[in-house]
Amino acid sequence: MRERSFVMLKPDAVKRRLIGDVLNRFERRGLKVVATKMMVINKELAEKHYAEHAEKPFFKDLVDYITSGPVLAMVIEGGECISLIRKMVGATNPKEADMGTIRGDYAIETGRNMIHASDSTESAVREISLFFKDSEICNYILPD
Ligand code: CMP
Repeated sequence: MRERSFVMLKPDAVKRRLIGDVLNRFERRGLKVVATKMMVINKELAEKHYAEHAEKPFFKDLVDYITSGPVLAMVIEGGECISLIRKMVGATNPKEADMGTIRGDYAIETGRNMIHASDSTESAVREISLFFKDSEICNYILPD
């Protein structure tokens, strides 16, 4: 089933000049990037995006970090892409992420884990609508 996922390259990925490497992995896998936006997230949007972690002890650090520099927010489309992208991203704690995953190959700290990707259809819908208007998402056909 065709799905859309919300994916965000976090400030550490942008600062380390890894945007191209990560996008390359998604494209080579056959996924379609249908929206991108380079932005510095404000505190309000960060708190909404991470609302489910509001009571966690790391919440303040998480919000401070995600607002600390530019991120690349994007929408990626493909068949069952939500779980596929989570697999490509790897475990939240990069030390537990398999080699060959994005976090397993590029990161070592949970608080600097490079990338966010929606974990379910419901999160994808919610997160995409927080970051993008419908008119900012491109519908186009790619050859198979
Ligand atoms: P992400 O997949 O974006 O979703 C929630 C984020 O919270 C997660 O990546 C981590 O960056 C962060 N996070 C989760 N657990 C911890 C933790 N124990 N300490 C610091 N940050 C955390």
